[in-house]
Amino acid sequence: MSEYVKLEFEGKIYQFPIVTGTEGEKAIDISELRSSTGLITLDPGYANTGSCASSITFMDGEKGILRYRGIPIEQLAEHSSFIETAYLLINGKLPTGEELKQISILFNDHSLVHEDMQIFYQNFPRGAHPMGILSSMANALRSFYPELQTIEEEINITVIRLLSKVRTMAAMSYKISRGHKVVYPRPDYKYPANFLHMMFDTPVKPYEINETLVRALDVFWILHADHEQNCSTSTVRLVGSGRVNLYAAISAGISALWGPLHGGANQAVIDMLKEIQKDGGNHQRAVEKAKDKKDPFRLMGFGHRVYKAYDPRAKLIKKMCDKILKELDISDPLLDLAKELEEVALTDDYFIEKNLYPNVDFYSGIVLRAMGIPTNMFTVMFAIGRLPGWIAQWKESMDDPMWKLGRPRQVYTGPSITDYIPIDQR
Ligand code: ACO
Repeated sequence: MSEYVKLEFEGKIYQFPIVTGTEGEKAIDISELRSSTGLITLDPGYANTGSCASSITFMDGEKGILRYRGIPIEQLAEHSSFIETAYLLINGKLPTGEELKQISILFNDHSLVHEDMQIFYQNFPRGAHPMGILSSMANALRSFYPELQTIEEEINITVIRLLSKVRTMAAMSYKISRGHKVVYPRPDYKYPANFLHMMFDTPVKPYEINETLVRALDVFWILHADHEQNCSTSTVRLVGSGRVNLYAAISAGISALWGPLHGGANQAVIDMLKEIQKDGGNHQRAVEKAKDKKDPFRLMGFGHRVYKAYDPRAKLIKKMCDKILKELDISDPLLDLAKELEEVALTDDYFIEKNLYPNVDFYSGIVLRAMGIPTNMFTVMFAIGRLPGWIAQWKESMDDPMWKLGRPRQVYTGPSITDYIPIDQR
């Protein structure tokens, strides 16, 4: 039975169909709203707006559910690898053993970046933020790797290049920022081990691969791999809707992710915990500050636009955090502080009433610190993880039969028609 929503406006009744997703979530299809009624909708932050239909990721913020292509995130975190998960997101199915082998070969073939790109790296100022560098270099890839002949080749090779080169480019930015020699990828290492090798290997001290850290990084990236229509993914789709090349759309996504309210929160959490530590560990003061409406300070790593229950990724990261610190015998006072802060916040009426729980960024910084990743690289780590999701969403939007150039409307609130005033009369 078809369902409709009725809208009464200026004495007339209009009907708009209800669209139902596979998990039963309902939306009003208002694609004919303006042409039939002359009205548009006003929805700041798109909090009630579905921008597309998508078969990639399902999340239920009330129940704390996250699934990629139907598979619960908990199962992927336990059994899958980042590369397998990336394949799943981009191709819509788990790879066979042979397909996975082929992907590894392609990743090795495309893991180097053009030597001339090093000149750009070397000329960024010393203190440049690695997210700015990564976003610029992702865009620069188009100039170094121009368009291929066929659309299919273009999409497949560009996707492989991006996934493989992003970790080389990220590690390069770190090495160059330290004034160290760039380390080349090794074909015998898997994706996460190769990244750690390129980050930490030096001519005087070869990096010893630690399987606990390698697995932790793999899981960290799986947990970040997609999150449906978030700020950076919507950016990739919107920029991509102008039919720009994939490198440019991804570069825009990286820039969007940088902000502290989005992916930059993992860095902001560690900065905040250090501040609290300097303040003698007074987490109650931080909680009071976050509740004060006159103070712009917020508890970083808390709250989410969609999750109104505990973020399932945060649950898994918190567990992983405990496990790796125990296995590696590391004691991190910031972890103790984070746990105390969480306990205070979760029992506070303000946080309870507003359904504010720790999000993925709350504990992820502590995991990254255990790996030796410097704080200003945290959001880069998130970007590497989110890349398969951005690519999958971009690819889906390219094949979408309902595709349209992204172009929202507005309610104009400026002056009505006003005459120009010559400069000598102002
Ligand atoms: N600390 C204190 N108060 C908060 C917090 C917080 N972290 N988050 C939300 N609130 C309050 C707001 O002040 C607001 O209060 P009000 O209703 O009295 O005005 C209410 O909770 C709702 O918050 P909004 O900002 O309207 O909710 P929105 O869905 O727009 O915000 C966001 C989500 C941006 C993530 C917010 O919770 C926040 O700023 N958190 C801190 C930054 C952070 O951790 N970002 C990472 C998110 S996960 C990710 O993107 C990877």
